[in-house]
Parts: sequence; C-alpha cells; structure tokens
Amino acid sequence: MKSLVLVAAATCAVVCTAQDSFESPEFNVTQAVLQQGVDISALPTLAGLKERSPWSACAAACNSLKLIPSFEVYAKNTTNYTTFTNEYWATQQGDVNPECIIKPSTPKQVSIAVLISRLTRCPFAVKGGGHAAFAGSSSIEGGITIALEKLNKIEVATDKKSVLVGPGRRWLEFYNELEKHGLAVVGGRVTDVGVPGLTLGGGVTYPDLYWSLRGGGNNFGIVTAFQLHTFPMNKMWGGGKLVANSDFEKALDATYKFGATGAASDEKGSQIISFGYAEGFGPLASAFLTYAEPVTSLPAMFEDWANVSLIQDTTGAHTLSELVSLLSDGVPDRERQTYWDVTFKLDRSLFSFLVNTFYELLPNIIDAKNLLPTISIQLITIPQLQQMQKNGGNAFGISPADGPLFIMNMGTVWTNPADDERILKFNNDIIMRVQAEAAKKGLNNDYIYMNYASGYQAVVSSYGTANQKRLQSTSSWFDPTGVFRKLQPGYFKLDGSAPFGEYS
Ligand SMILES: Cc1cc2nc3c(=O)[nH]c(=O)nc-3n(C[C@H](O)[C@H](O)[C@H](O)COP(=O)(O)OP(=O)(O)OC[C@H]3O[C@@H](n4cnc5c(N)ncnc54)[C@H](O)[C@@H]3O)c2cc1C
Ligand SMILES: *[C@@H]1O[C@H](CO)[C@@H](O)[C@H](O)[C@H]1NC(C)=O
Ligand SMILES: *[C@@H]1O[C@H](CO)[C@@H](O)[C@H](O)[C@H]1NC(C)=O
Ligand SMILES: *[C@@H]1O[C@H](CO)[C@@H](O)[C@H](O)[C@H]1NC(C)=O
Ligand SMILES: *[C@@H]1O[C@H](CO)[C@@H](O)[C@H](O)[C@H]1NC(C)=O
Repeated sequence: MKSLVLVAAATCAVVCTAQDSFESPEFNVTQAVLQQGVDISALPTLAGLKERSPWSACAAACNSLKLIPSFEVYAKNTTNYTTFTNEYWATQQGDVNPECIIKPSTPKQVSIAVLISRLTRCPFAVKGGGHAAFAGSSSIEGGITIALEKLNKIEVATDKKSVLVGPGRRWLEFYNELEKHGLAVVGGRVTDVGVPGLTLGGGVTYPDLYWSLRGGGNNFGIVTAFQLHTFPMNKMWGGGKLVANSDFEKALDATYKFGATGAASDEKGSQIISFGYAEGFGPLASAFLTYAEPVTSLPAMFEDWANVSLIQDTTGAHTLSELVSLLSDGVPDRERQTYWDVTFKLDRSLFSFLVNTFYELLPNIIDAKNLLPTISIQLITIPQLQQMQKNGGNAFGISPADGPLFIMNMGTVWTNPADDERILKFNNDIIMRVQAEAAKKGLNNDYIYMNYASGYQAVVSSYGTANQKRLQSTSSWFDPTGVFRKLQPGYFKLDGSAPFGEYS
C-alpha cells in the first residue's frame, strides 16, 4: 500500500503537526455537522438527546440520517435490510441486527455518519467485503452499520505505477479491472473477500498512521480510498494441487523444502497447503502455489512437488483473476464460520504434528451437519519478511531474523448453532496442543495474523508491547476521544484484549 485517504474523527482544519492531536479538545461535533452542510434544525429527532437511552439514541441517529437528502438508509424489517444481512459471508454476522444500515456514496457522507454517531452516542460498525468470521466485526447489534460498497472507484494513475481503489471493492473485480491495463497488485487469494479489511489487517502522508494501519485494523478511522502500488502483469505461474491420500507426508516435505531453502532468496514464490475433511471424501489435502513470473513449468523452488502424487493439478500460466477464481471454487458462504491462527518457526516435524493432531481430534466434531474443517500451513518466507519492512514496515512485530515462519490457520464451516461450542473447542484444543509441542523446541512466535484470528484471540498485544504502545499513541493523536475504539466496539481493539474474552 502506498497511501490512503482516511475519514478520521474530524477533518484537520489547520496544519496538523502544529497541534497536540489531530483534533483539538474544543472540537464541537454539532458545529462539525453544520459545517458538512447538514441542517440540524431539520432533524427534530436529535432534540433532547441527553435524556435518551443508548437504544433510542440509535433510533434518533437512524431517523436523522433518513432525513438527510440523498442518504441511503435501510430500516429494520425492510426487504433491503434483510437482503443485506443475508449477504454476509458468515451467518454469525448476518444474525446481528443493526438499528439501520447506511450505504454512503461519498467520503463526506461517511464523515456525516460518524459525526451523527458521535452526537447521539449511537455505536457503529464498518463493513467492507464483509468476510470477517465472527459476529460484530463488520455488523453491530442495535447500532449503525456503515456499508462501504458504493465507494467503489478504481482509478489507475496515468503513469500506471499505482491505482486508487475504493473500499467497496472485492479482489476479483479489482484484478479484472487492472488486467485491462496489463497490471496487478499484491492482494487477496479469494475472489469475493473485500479489499479494505484484508489490507488493514495486513498493510498517508503520516508515517505513524501508515505504519499503524498495516495491522491496526479498524482502530484509526474509515479508509475511503487506498492507493496501491501496481506492477505490470499478464500471466503468472500458479494453481492448485490436490494431493493423493497416500502422499500427505511427501507434500509436507515439498512444502518444508520450499520454505527452508527453495524460497530463501526469491520473494516471487508463495505457498499455502490445507488439510481438511469432507463427508463422502474423507481426508483431503490441497496446496496453492504461486510464482509471480509467466513461466509454464514448475519453478525450481517447488521442485519436490514433482514427487508428489496428485488427484488434480491446475498449476500453469494464468492471469491473477483466473488464479483466484480457481482457488475460490467451492469455498462455501452463508454458513457458520470460525477462523483461528497462530505463528511458528518453520519446522518439519511440527508440520506432521499439527496435521496429525487435527485428524486425531476430528472425531469430536465429525457428525456436525455440513461440516468442513481445515487446517492450513501458510509460509512466511524470509524474502517476504524483507518485503514487509519496506516503506516503514508494519505493526506486526516480526522481522527477517525471526524467519522463516509459518502461520497455522484453521477455518471451520458448519450449519447448526448447537455445534458452536464443540467446534470452537476443537480449534482451540489444536492450538493448545501444537503450541505445547512447539514450546519444547522453542518454535512458538507470538504473532497472530488479524485477518485469520478468532474473536477469542488477543491480536494487537501479539505484536509486542512496543508496537502496541505505538499503535495506542497513534490513536491518541488521531482520535483523542476514541471514536473508532469506543463508538465502534467490534473487531480487534488496541488494548489487546480479545473481543469475546479468553477462550476457556
Ligand atoms: C474465504 C476467505 C479467504 C480469505 N483469503 C485471504 C487471503 O488470501 N489473504 C488474507 O490476508 N486474508 C484472507 N482472508 C481473511 C480476510 O482478509 C479477512 O476476513 C478480512 O477481514 C476481510 O476483509 P473484508 O473487507 O471482506 O471484511 P469486513 O468484514 O468488511 O471487514 C473486516 C474488518 O475491517 C474493517 N474495515 C472494513 N473496511 C474498512 C475501512 N474502509 N476502513 C476501516 N476499517 C474497515 C471492518 O470494520 C472490520 O472490522 C480470507 C477470508 C475468507 C473468508
Ligand atoms: C457547538 O456548536 C453549536 C452550534 O454552533 C453551538 O450551539 C454550541 O453552543 C457549541 N457548543 C459548545 C460547547 O461550544
Ligand atoms: C420486525 O418484524 C418482526 C416479526 O416479523 C417483529 O417481531 C418485530 O417487532 C419487527 N420489528 C420492527 C422494528 O418493526
Ligand atoms: C432498496 O434497494 C433498491 C435496489 O437497490 C433501491 O432501488 C431502493 O431505493 C432501496 N430502497 C430504499 C428504501 O433505500
Ligand atoms: C524427488 O525426486 C527426485 C528425483 O526424481 C529426487 O532426487 C529427490 O530426492 C526426491 N525428493 C524427495 C523429497 O523425495
């Protein structure tokens, strides 16, 4: 990410660096709403707010937003509202009922919505692609859900070296548009994941803010445009390899070799391998390999994959949009979902241990309806860690000296809420066992990747105390009253506590 346009708590009226914070203590929210051209006297529901409870505050906020010309507001029990909540990727998010849903079509409307939330003290949530896996991440019970889908511009710079993208975009449509210009960006693997949530979980003119947003999630404002570096791209090598049951260990060998030596000096390769189980199929293993050059045969860094027996192989030269479509095929949505992840130093025996632990504990949940559990190994190679340090780095607290690393990422799909408890426990149990094994060999790394984390995991404190403090001080400068931490309670907050508390 090169830079971004942010709607912060306020707009900076004077030279920001001359102040103690981005917003002065005298900041007058009513005045700011008026300055945005909203006639408060035409919003009778805002009168007498002080006496209202938080719930009627949200009724007042939503009724006010409805009265502002050209605001698109969906009220409870309308078809548009229900259609919207049904479209979340995880049903746990769709089950949350906001007081209203708004779809701002300009950054100014986003500002007004935040100011009305501040005025009424009605809490809000922000939705990009809506792919976060737990309730309240991009939805809010009784509050205002601000959906960004109408902020969807894609503007390639005239020098073709960067692109400005609105937070309403998802990766496939974005890649498709860039391909018309022979370009690509570094982005997500799955077609309908949103650009904003993914980018803020992983990576302006203000260096602290830029650093903080790469890992800081939703704590600093609402990003209304991202400027991403582009690079020329027509086709690249990559695809999926579905591994025969007999060759799971060989696939792990090839994966290890890639991480340990294959990719030691070339940042163009990446690999993730997932093990799962599906009724009627039994144990499954599938790897996704990419190399960002248009070669047509297996790149040397993946050479041991030549020894692995496969059931299906789609690797070859593809466009980026073809690749993400290949990978997304069969990913279920509108079901119950949970994601969990932790990080370890690369170690071959730990690979087998985690896969074996997964299959050993699987009987605890195997009869859950429509069950689709997976455990993945996603490599973070040393060249990738080096790339992350560019442009001031990010908030993750991992460096090339820690590498190579891998993320153990688990995701489960199921249907019945009655199975929630044992499925959460299954995921948590695997983490506990694998971390205990890793501890014996000194292989644990604290880092938790926000984009794959469950609401029971403390993400921001996993970046280390110094980085957590830097994030907090960025926040006190940009958002001294804590609008984006307190009025927007969902997802991972800067104090490092898990949204749902410790899992026990
Ligand atoms: C099938 C699947 C595949 C995935 N593949 C990948 C992958 O390849 N790589 C990867 O890194 N991750 C991947 N993820 C994880 C993904 O990055 C996260 O789920 C991410 O949060 C999704 O972003 P979103 O915009 O769709 O989600 P949302 O639920 O809309 O947003 C997530 C969080 O970001 C906040 N947010 C959204 N937009 C803004 C904004 N404009 N300003 C401020 N805050 C905002 C929201 O408030 C919310 O808290 C995958 C997830 C799924 C379900
Ligand atoms: C804030 O601005 C409004 C509108 O201009 C004004 O009526 C009010 O007195 C101001 N509040 C404070 C505390 O200055
Ligand atoms: C929405 O409809 C349900 C039943 O269809 C009803 O119980 C509920 O009170 C309604 N809510 C509102 C806000 O009208
Ligand atoms: C509901 O959605 C439709 C289609 O997007 C739109 O035309 C209509 O104006 C919406 N209704 C409201 C009340 O916003
Ligand atoms: C893969 O096969 C090649 C020869 O085909 C062999 O040299 C190499 O050792 C094999 N690697 C593994 C991990 O079996």
